[in-house]
Amino acid sequence: MKKFILFFLVCSISFAQKKTIEQRVDSVLALMTLDEKVGQLVQYSGGWATGTETEKSNEGSDALILKGKVGSFLNVVGAEATKKMQKIAVEQSRLKIPLIFGLDVIHGFRATFPIPLAEASSWNPALVEKSARWQAIEASSAGIHWTFNPMVDIARDPRWGRIMEGSGEDPYLGSLMAVARVKGYQGNDLSANNTIAACIKHFAGYGGAEGGRDYNTVDFSERTFREVYLRPFKAAVEAGAATLMASFNEIGGVPSSANKFLLTKILRGEWKFDGFVVSDWNSIGELIPHGVAKDLKHAGELAIKAGLDMDMEANSYYNHLADLVKEGKVSPQILDESVRRVLRIKFRLGLFDDPYKYCDVEREKKSIMSKEIIQATLQSARESIVLLKNENKFLPLKKDLKKIAVVGPLANSKDNPLGGWDQQGNPKNVVTVLDGIKNKLGENTEINYEEGCTIEGNEKDGFGKAINLVKTSDIAIVVVGESRNMSGEASSRATLDLPGVQESFVEEIQKTGRPVIVILMNGRPLTITWIQQNVSAVIESWYLGIQTGNAIADVLFGDYNPSGKLPVTFPRYVGQVPIYYNHKNTGRPYDPKNHYTSYYMDLENTPLYPFGYGLSYTTFSYSDIFLSKNKIKKDESLTVSVEVKNSGTQDGTEVVQLYIRDLVGSVTRPVKELKDFTKIFLKAGESKKVEFTITPEKLKFYDINMNFVVEPGDFKVFVGTNSVDVKEALFTVVD
Ligand code: GLC
Repeated sequence: MKKFILFFLVCSISFAQKKTIEQRVDSVLALMTLDEKVGQLVQYSGGWATGTETEKSNEGSDALILKGKVGSFLNVVGAEATKKMQKIAVEQSRLKIPLIFGLDVIHGFRATFPIPLAEASSWNPALVEKSARWQAIEASSAGIHWTFNPMVDIARDPRWGRIMEGSGEDPYLGSLMAVARVKGYQGNDLSANNTIAACIKHFAGYGGAEGGRDYNTVDFSERTFREVYLRPFKAAVEAGAATLMASFNEIGGVPSSANKFLLTKILRGEWKFDGFVVSDWNSIGELIPHGVAKDLKHAGELAIKAGLDMDMEANSYYNHLADLVKEGKVSPQILDESVRRVLRIKFRLGLFDDPYKYCDVEREKKSIMSKEIIQATLQSARESIVLLKNENKFLPLKKDLKKIAVVGPLANSKDNPLGGWDQQGNPKNVVTVLDGIKNKLGENTEINYEEGCTIEGNEKDGFGKAINLVKTSDIAIVVVGESRNMSGEASSRATLDLPGVQESFVEEIQKTGRPVIVILMNGRPLTITWIQQNVSAVIESWYLGIQTGNAIADVLFGDYNPSGKLPVTFPRYVGQVPIYYNHKNTGRPYDPKNHYTSYYMDLENTPLYPFGYGLSYTTFSYSDIFLSKNKIKKDESLTVSVEVKNSGTQDGTEVVQLYIRDLVGSVTRPVKELKDFTKIFLKAGESKKVEFTITPEKLKFYDINMNFVVEPGDFKVFVGTNSVDVKEALFTVVD
C-alpha cells in the first residue's frame, strides 16, 4: 500500500510540475501584447551584426530588449556581456521575460575539439557525448543557453564544404552521433546551469545539395528523404532535443523555411515535437530569391504558417508579423502557438526561475580551458585519427630516432588545426604537429622543420630546403591538406585534390628515398590516389583541435594505437561523386567482365577507401558468422555472433561493424546498410565473441506504399572491419 501512495504522490507532483510549466507558459502568454508576442519570435545577432541589409532594424539592442521587441540574441559571448543584456530584459522590460542566448558551439567553445566529421571517425558515441558535455560546461559558463548544434546533415558529396560539420554519409552512425550530442549538451536536467539547449540542424536535406554546391537545390524522393536524410533528425527529436533550425535549401520546390509538410506535418504531426524551430540566418528573407515570396512580409506569412517559430536576422517578423495578424492573414492562434513553444523552452531552461545562473564570472574563469576539458580534447583527438596505410608495419616509429624532418604547410600551423566553426577557439592554444613531436621526444632527437610550400600557392621555391633537410634526416613527416577555410559554410570545391602544389611536394620528398609518412589535415575526403599508391604510411587527422600535435604524436610513436574508421567514402576521382557505400544495385551492377554495366571507363570503379575503413597497428581476424536462427517471423529477432581475435602483436581496439542487405523488396534496397557496431579492446592474442541482435526495427523500411514495415524474404547479414571486408551469412524472414 505504501508503495502505491508513494507512486501516486510522485505522479501527482510530476504531473503538477509538468502542468506548472504549461500553466506558467499560458499565464505569461495571457499578459502579452501583440508586439511582445512578436518580440519573442525575433532573434538578432549581437556584437557584430543586428539585422540584415533589407529593412534593417534601426534601434539598438538595448532599446529592442527594453521594449520587449527581441527575445533572443546570437553571437553575444561572456557571463558579463550576457548579464548586461539579460538585466534589461528581466529588470526593466514590462513583462521581464528572459532572453535566450544562442551560439554555434559546433566542436567546442574556447577549448576546440576535433571537427564533428573527425569525432564521427571515432565511432564512439559515448566519447562524443562526453565531448558535448564538456562543450556545454564551458559554453554555459560564458552565458550561452543554446547551441546551434548538432548539425546532423547526411553528406554523400565531399565537394560540399559542410561535410566537415556533420557525421558523414550514413544515417545509422549519424543518428547515434546526433543523439550523443543532444544528450551531452542537454544532460539529464535542462534547467541545470551547465546544460544547454540543443538545436538540430539544418532541417532538412541540406546535405543533398545538387553538385555538392552549398545552398543549391535539393530534390529527392520522399523515401530517400525519410530513410536517409530525416533519420538523424527523428532520432535527435526522440532524444529530447529542445529546438531545430530550418535549412536554407528547398526540397523538391518548397524551401524548408516555408515547408509545412516538413515543419508541421512531419515534425509536429508525426514526431510530436513540442520545442521551437529557428530559421537559419535570414532564411526567411531568402524565400524571396527562392521565388516563393514576393516580399519580406509575404515571406514571414509563409514561414510562420509553415511552423517556423523564430526569425534569425531576416527582419521579417520584426517588421511585418504584427500587421499580418491585424490584417487577419495570420491567425492569433498560430502566433500564440509559436510564442508558447519559445516560452516553453525558456521555462525548461530555468531562465524564468534564475535568468542569471549562466552569468557567473567566477565559474566562467574556472571553466574556460580547464585542464579537464583540455584532457578531453586530447582523448577525442586520439580516437578521431584514422590510419589509412601502414606498409610493412612502418608505424609506429621508435622514439630513439636521431633526426626527424617535419615538413609541409600544415606541419607547424597554429590556426588550421582548429578547423571551421571553431567559435572562440584561439590558435595560441593549439599544439601543432611539430610541437607535439617535440613534446614527445627527448633532447636526443634532432627535430627540424621546413614549410616547403604553401597550402594553395603554386610556388615551388621552398621545395629545395625541405628536400635537403629530408635527405639528411632519418625520416620525413609530411603534413599536407586543406586550409580550414576550404571547408565549412559556403566552401564547396569542384575538385578534391590536394590544393596548390602539395602533391608534387610530396612526390619530391618521396624521391629522396628517405622513409616518408604523410599526415592529412582536411575537412573532407580527398582524392589522394598518388599518395595512397606511393607513400608507405598515411594518416587521416582531419582537424583535431587544440591537442592536434599531442594526439598525432601519441599515434606516430605508438602511445595510442589508432582505432578510427572513416564515416565517409573516399573517391579515387571527383568524377565518381556521389559515391557512398549504401548505394542501390541497379539493373546492371558493375561487372568488370561485362561492358554493358554501370561503371566509368577511365578509372578503377571502387572507392579509394571505403566507408568504415581504418587500420590498426595490430590485426584482427574474424570467424565465420553464427546465427541463432536462419528463419524468423516478421516480429522476431535473431542473434548474430562472430569471434574476433587480435591476431597481431599489439593491444588494439576494433570497430566491429554489422550490415544487412534486403535481397528482394517491394522497392529497391541498398546493397548494404549499417545496422550496428561495437568498439572492442583486445589485448594481443586475445579473442572475444561479439554478439549483435537483429530486431524487426533494424529490418524495416518504407515499402511501395510508404509504410515503414518488415517484408518477408531473404536477407544477407555482413560483419567485418569495414563496409567491404566482411563475413556474410543468409537468413530469411517469413510471414
Ligand atoms: C549560418 C549557418 C548555421 C548557423 C547560423 C548562425 O549561416 O548556416 O549553421 O547556425 O548561420 O551562425
